Amino acid sequence: MALLKDSLSRIKPSATIAVTDKARALKAAGRDVIGLGAGEPDFDTPDNIKKAAIKAIESGKASKYTAVDGIPELKAAIVKKFKRENQLDYKPSQIIVGTGGKQVLFNALMVTLNPGDEVIIPAPFWVSYPDMVLLAGGEPVSVPTRIEDGFKMRPEALEKAITPKTKWIIFNSPSNPTGAAYNKAELKAVTDVLVKHPHVWVMADDMYEHLVYDDFVFFSPAQLEPRLYERTLTVNGVSKAYCMTGWRIGYAGGREDLIKAMAMLQSQSTSNPAAVSQWASLEALEGPQDFIAKHNAIFKERRDLCVSMLNQAKGLHCPRPEGAFYVYPSCAGTIGRTAPSGKTIATDEDFVTELLETEGVAVVQGTPFGFGPAFRISYATKTEDLAEACRRIQRFCGNLK
Ligand SMILES: Cc1ncc(COP(=O)(O)O)c(C=O)c1O
Repeated sequence: MALLKDSLSRIKPSATIAVTDKARALKAAGRDVIGLGAGEPDFDTPDNIKKAAIKAIESGKASKYTAVDGIPELKAAIVKKFKRENQLDYKPSQIIVGTGGKQVLFNALMVTLNPGDEVIIPAPFWVSYPDMVLLAGGEPVSVPTRIEDGFKMRPEALEKAITPKTKWIIFNSPSNPTGAAYNKAELKAVTDVLVKHPHVWVMADDMYEHLVYDDFVFFSPAQLEPRLYERTLTVNGVSKAYCMTGWRIGYAGGREDLIKAMAMLQSQSTSNPAAVSQWASLEALEGPQDFIAKHNAIFKERRDLCVSMLNQAKGLHCPRPEGAFYVYPSCAGTIGRTAPSGKTIATDEDFVTELLETEGVAVVQGTPFGFGPAFRISYATKTEDLAEACRRIQRFCGNLK
C-alpha cells in the first residue's frame, strides 16, 4: 500500500517558495543574488506592536491556550475594523482568527467543498488557491483575464464560468501576483453578475486592502453590494499591511454557521493561533496606523521605478498595477530568443532560470500563477537593490539574441 494518500498527487509545492529556496542556495554558494521572489514586506514589524507582544509575554497572557477562534479582545477589534474600514457589520460570533489568512481560507474550503464542487479563480491567481481547492476535494475553475484589461476579469468571462456546481469564487483585490485592484465600477460589474447567481459564495481575500497607490479607493465585495453580505466570507490579516508575516495571524467575518464550522475544524487541527501573536495583532488593529502611509509612499516609488525600467527592457511589457507590492510583466517578446548560455528561451520558466543563472536576479515564472509567459516581481525589497535588479534585467533582455 502506498504511504502517501492519493489526493496528495493532485497538489504541488509552492513555486514562490521554490524560487526563494533556489536563490538562498545560490547566495549561500557565494553568488551575488538579488531575490525578488518573496511576498512579504522588507520592513520590520512596528515597535508598538513588538512592545505589546513583549508585554503579553511578561504578564503571562501568552502562556496558555486561548479560545480556539481567537481572544475576545482581538475579535472585538476585528469587529470594529470591519465597521470602521469596510462599513461591514459583524457580531463577534461571526469572526474567526486563524494562523494566517492562509489557514482561514483553507479551513473555509475544507468545511464547504463536496467532491466535484467548483471554485472559480480568476487568473493570474495566488499559487495556493488551486491547490487548497484540490486538497479540499473541489475543482478549481480558472477564469482568464487579459493584460490589456489590467488583469481584471470581464463580467462576461465570469458569467460563462458559473455552473450549477459553482460553490465559491475566490476574489482577490489587490491581487497577488499582479497588483491589480478593482475600482468601484469594475467591482460593481463583478458583483452585478454574482447577485444573479444566489448559489455562488464569495471568498473575498482582502489581504492587500491597505496597499494601494495614487488615491485608489478600496471596496470589499460585500461592502459595495450588501445583497452579497449573507454569502460572503471577508478574509483579511495583519501579515502585509502591518509587516507581520512571521506572526501568522489572519481573520475572517462571515455567516455564523460557516464561522462555527471553521472553528470546529480548527479545534481539531491547530487549536488557537499563537496567543502572543493575537495580542500583537490587537495592537496592530487598534494602535497608530500612520506607518502604513509612510510605507505606501515607498512602495509607490518602487512600483513606478519597476514599471518604468522594465518597460525599457527589450521584449518585456509591464502594466502599472494599482496595489499590493508586485508587478507582473509579460515576457512574450523574449520567447524564441537565445540566452548567452546558448539556451533558447521557450517558456517563462526558461526566462527566470536563465535570468537567475546569468544575472543573479530571482523572480517567479508566471505559469504557476495561471498566466504566462510572464513573471512576478515582488518590489518589497530595498530600493537600491530593486534598481540594480531592474538594470540587470534590462541587460539580460538586451543580450538575448
Ligand atoms: C493573496 C494572498 N492571500 C492570502 C495570503 C496569506 O497570508 P497570511 O497567511 O500570511 O495571512 C497571502 C500571502 O502571501 C496572499 O498573497
